[in-house]
Amino acid sequence: MDETAPEGKTKFTIGDSTFIIDNRYEFLKIIGRSAWGFAVSAIDHKINSRVSIKKITTEEDLDEVKNILREIKLLNFFNHENIIKMYNIELYPDTRNYNDLYIVTDLMEADLHRVIRSEIELTNEHIQYLMYQLLRGVLHMHSADVIHWDLKPSNVLINSNCDLKISGFKLAKECGKAVKIDEWICARWYRSPELMLNCSVFTKKADIWSCGSIFAELLGRSPLFPCKDSVDFLWCITQLLGTTSPDDIFFIDSPAAETYIANLPDKEKTSWSSLYPNADPLALDLLDKMIVINPEKRWAASHCLEHPYFKDLHDIEDEPLASESFNWDFENCEPSIGAVKNLIYEEASKFHH
Ligand SMILES: Nc1ncnc2c1ncn2[C@@H]1O[C@H](COP(=O)(O)OP(=O)(O)O)[C@@H](O)[C@H]1O
Ligand SMILES: [Mg+2]
Repeated sequence: MDETAPEGKTKFTIGDSTFIIDNRYEFLKIIGRSAWGFAVSAIDHKINSRVSIKKITTEEDLDEVKNILREIKLLNFFNHENIIKMYNIELYPDTRNYNDLYIVTDLMEADLHRVIRSEIELTNEHIQYLMYQLLRGVLHMHSADVIHWDLKPSNVLINSNCDLKISGFKLAKECGKAVKIDEWICARWYRSPELMLNCSVFTKKADIWSCGSIFAELLGRSPLFPCKDSVDFLWCITQLLGTTSPDDIFFIDSPAAETYIANLPDKEKTSWSSLYPNADPLALDLLDKMIVINPEKRWAASHCLEHPYFKDLHDIEDEPLASESFNWDFENCEPSIGAVKNLIYEEASKFHH
């Protein structure tokens, strides 16, 4: 413990970042770097368990502060085995007048991005169990009217026993809301065609496309659509899924994109088994229901869980839905940074009474 830490606190420095938190926590090691700062593992001596602590320094940027509020409100709301659980929020230096936030959550051993790029073997049983848990978490989220919007391997955390939890909720969206085109959207490689082509409404099916892309990446150990931009993306999906019928891309509102697609040479659909010759045919059958250009034909999470690929895992009694929808009211006002920071304070207070 650093001697200069305030009373009751412990202090440690990682690079140019200093953590000052309750001395119930004992630093173990750095586990990741987020856009907001470092995430570390620690022992929580109060509950006698290992946790993850993410430090966030609030910037004077309204959108960023809203992202923080959204992430912690959602983490406070969800209580599901496949969604990361939050145990505490600490504010520093002063709970009312803070600059730094520490978010304490479940500690996981790795994220899927690292696992996919490692030498770790992924058997069909592993992939089946990972995809089952991912879709089980997504089903729960969707039942609360929450679209994750940024599902990608680095936001899917796992343990060596294959337990999986979804994280990274800062960009989540309310179903059916209109998208602001200038808004930052889902990482490009996992982005659905309707989002890629500027469709203006949020739907749950965008998450299913992302899950399908993750599924393919587990099977092939490389990204399904590592495209550079939307033109490259249209080329890639046509190469793989074959010539698109105009009915399936009803959502396009860009004449340039329409002309581009109409002028692409005719292409037969590539069979999934030629791409992933060692995969379980049932896995490929399910993948084919998820990687569907037309969001209306793309399967919902509940439908995917009923697919025969999951016949040994699926149990409708053990796939809980949310008991209520998430309350998105806080998004609708045009608040000041101070007001949003105050709402974050209220969320943090729930842990300190
Ligand atoms: N609870 C956790 N357990 C294990 N690793 C984590 C945890 N939280 C974050 N990480 C690691 O840190 C990385 C960045 O954290 P994340 O919360 O996703 O930040 P960002 O919101 O900037 O994407 C993750 O991709 C993961 O590798
Ligand atoms: Mg992330």
